[in-house]
Amino acid sequence: MKFDTPAGRNPIDAQTVVGKPHDRIDGPLKVTGKATYAHEWHDATPSAPAYGVVVGAGIATGTVTRMELDAARRSPGVLAIVTADTAGPLHPVKRNAAPLLGGPKVHHYHQALAVVVAETFEQARAAAGQIRIRYAPQRGHFDLADAKQAGASLQTPEPDARVGDFEKAFSQAAVALDATYHTPDQSHAMMEPHATMAAWEGDQLTVWTSNQMIDWGRTDLARTLGIAKDKVRLVSPYIGGGFGGKLFLRSDALLAALAARAAKRPVKVALQRPLIANNTTHRPATLQRIRLGATPEGSLTAIGHESWSGNLPGGSPEEAVQQTRLLYAGPNRLAALRLATLDLPEGNAMRAPGETPGLMALEIAMDEMAIKLGLDPIEFRIRNDTQVDPSNPERPFSQRQLVQCLRTGAERFGWQRRSATPGTVRDGRWLVGMGVAAGFRNNLVMKSGARVRLAADGQVTVETDMTDIGTGSYTIIGQTAAEMLGVPLQQVTVKLGDSRYPVAAGSGGQWGANSSTAGVYAACMALRTKVAQALGMDPAAAQFEAGKVTAGGRSRALADAAQAGELVAEDSIEFDTLQEKYQQSTFAAHFVEVGVDVASGESRIRRMLAVCAAGRILNPKTARSQVIGAMTMGIGAALSEELVVDRRLGFFVNHDLAGYEVPVHADVPHQEVVFLDESDAVSSPMKAKGVGELGLCGVSAAVANAVYNATGIRVRDYPLTLDKLL
Ligand code: MOS
Repeated sequence: MKFDTPAGRNPIDAQTVVGKPHDRIDGPLKVTGKATYAHEWHDATPSAPAYGVVVGAGIATGTVTRMELDAARRSPGVLAIVTADTAGPLHPVKRNAAPLLGGPKVHHYHQALAVVVAETFEQARAAAGQIRIRYAPQRGHFDLADAKQAGASLQTPEPDARVGDFEKAFSQAAVALDATYHTPDQSHAMMEPHATMAAWEGDQLTVWTSNQMIDWGRTDLARTLGIAKDKVRLVSPYIGGGFGGKLFLRSDALLAALAARAAKRPVKVALQRPLIANNTTHRPATLQRIRLGATPEGSLTAIGHESWSGNLPGGSPEEAVQQTRLLYAGPNRLAALRLATLDLPEGNAMRAPGETPGLMALEIAMDEMAIKLGLDPIEFRIRNDTQVDPSNPERPFSQRQLVQCLRTGAERFGWQRRSATPGTVRDGRWLVGMGVAAGFRNNLVMKSGARVRLAADGQVTVETDMTDIGTGSYTIIGQTAAEMLGVPLQQVTVKLGDSRYPVAAGSGGQWGANSSTAGVYAACMALRTKVAQALGMDPAAAQFEAGKVTAGGRSRALADAAQAGELVAEDSIEFDTLQEKYQQSTFAAHFVEVGVDVASGESRIRRMLAVCAAGRILNPKTARSQVIGAMTMGIGAALSEELVVDRRLGFFVNHDLAGYEVPVHADVPHQEVVFLDESDAVSSPMKAKGVGELGLCGVSAAVANAVYNATGIRVRDYPLTLDKLL
C-alpha cells in the first residue's frame, strides 16, 4: 500500500482497542522469566552451545605485531580461537565505521581482535586471559577541542544551511548571545548487553541475537561473511533495551558466527559489560557554538548554530543542528556541521541522535537569551513560534502544537510560582529552581511490512520482523490488528523479531510505532478484502466489529471466512511524497524543578512534567512509559552521564556501570506526562507519530535551566556535576 495522500476516515478511527491503555501483552513473559533473550536460547539447537569470549585491543590505534595464542590453545576446554588470520575473508559493511574483527590494523581501543571458544564460559574467559598481544601503537587523535582548535583537518560533511544573511543580521542585532556548549560522549547503557548465539546447519546460519533492525542485521551479517542473505536467519524477539546501540550488526553476532563455524558447534558470545563502551558505538561528544540575535521585543532575527563532533574515518557527524533549522522563526539562519577525525571508538546513533545533544545546547541558549531580553522563557519561545519550515514558507508543519505544549505545561506545573530572579527560593538546605525547555524530534517514517493470518477458530496471528526493544511493539501491533479485524486483543497473537517474517520498519529513530503499525494496517486491509470475498460481501462496504463482518444488511462471524482454510494476507506500507510537502515533527515542553544543595552543590530533581504533541497516541500506557524512561535518561544526561576520554591513550576510562553513572530510582522523582489530543493524517493511516525519542529531547536543558534558576550559575558544560556549581 502506498501512502501518498493524507489519511481519511478509516477503521483505526473507531479506537475501540487502539488508543486504550492496554497492559503490555509481553509483560507476563518478561516478569516471569519466560521471554527468551539472546543469551538464553540454550535449548534451541540439538547440540549444547559452547562459549566465546571476546578479546579487545589494548591500544587505540596502531598494529598488532604478534599474537601469542599457544598458551590459550592449551588451556582446558578450548575448542577454537578465531582471529583475523583465521577468520577467512571478511567484507566490512558501510554501516560499521570500523571492522568488527580487527587485526593486524587496530582502529580503536577494545576493537575485537580474537574470540576464544571453550566448553564453558569460565574456560573461555580463563583462556582469553592467556593471550598475549604485542602492538606497534601509533599516535592518535582523541581530543575534540584540540581538533576544533586546529581546524585544518575538519570536514564539512554536508553544505552549511543558510537562509537570509546570518552574519549581517547577527552583527546588527539589538540583543545578541554568543555562547559555546559542550555535550560529552555518552553510552547507551542498556540493561541487556549485546549477545548472540550462532549455529550453522551446513551453509545455513542462524543467529539468536539482540538487534533493533532485523533486516539490516541480516543483510550486514551476510555481506560481512560473503554469503547469500537467504543463508542467514536472524532471530531477536525480546530485547533488553537498545537506545540505538543495537541498530547495527556488532561484533557479538559476527564473532559468534565465526566461532560457531570454527568450533563446529553452536556458540554464544556476549559482550562483557566493560567491553561495551569501547567495543560498540556511543553518542559522540559535541562542541556547539550558538549565536542568537533578536529585536528588543524578543523577535529572533538571527539564529546560528555550529556543531563540532568527531568520528573514525567513514563515521558520521552528530547532527546536532537539525532541530535548529526548524524550531523557531527567524529570517536569517546558519546551521553548520564540522567533523573531526578521531581515533576513538565509533560514534553513532543514540536515542534521538542529533536532537538530544542539539537541544541540550539550543534550549540553554534560548533560556539565556530570554533572560537578556527580560522575557519569561516560555513567552520568548511562544513569540518565535512558526507553523512553517523557516527555510521554505510553502512547506507547513503537518501538525505543530509547541505553543499548546508550553501553555498546558506552564499551567500544570505551576510556572507562575517560579521566581524569575535566580537564587532566591530556598527550602532548608536546598536552593530551588524551575526550568523549561522545548522538545522537538522529527517524525521519520519507514517502509514496513507484515503478514496476517485468520484461522478457522477466529484466532488472528500477525507476523512481522518488527522488534520490541521494551517499547510496547507487541501490544500496539496486537491492538492494531484487533481494531482492524474487529476482535478483542486476546484473540490476536503477535510474532516479532524473526527474519522469516516480512521486513518491517524496525525500532529506530522513533519511527517504529507509527510505521510498523501502519504496515500491519496495510496487511489487515488486504486480509479484510479476502475475508469479505470469502463471505461473498463487498470488501468496500464490510464492517468488522465484535467478531462479526457486516455488509449489505448481512452479518457473518469473522471465523466463517476461514472455514475452508486459513486466510493469509501480506502487504507493506510505503511512504511517498507527503514527506516533501509537509514537515513532520513531534513537539514537547519539558518542565523541571530542581533542588541544589547550598553547601555541596549536589543537584536533585524534585518534579518533572512532559507535555507531548505527537499525533495519535496508540497506547497511552506504553507511550507514557516511553516518555518517563526518556525523562529519566535526560536526568542522567544532565547530571551524571559522561564517558571520560583518556586523552593520552584514547579510550573511555569509565567503561562500566560503576563509573558511568545512570540515574537510579533514588534519583528519579515524580514524573508526570500529558499527551495533547492530536491525530496527524499526514503521518500514516494510523495518524500516529513517535514519542520514544521526543521524551528525551529538551529534558537535560530544562534541568540545566532549573539549576540556573536555583543558583544563578550558568553551566554550559554537561554533565552538571557538583564541582561546576561550587
Ligand atoms: Mo534510535 S538512536 O534510532 O535506536
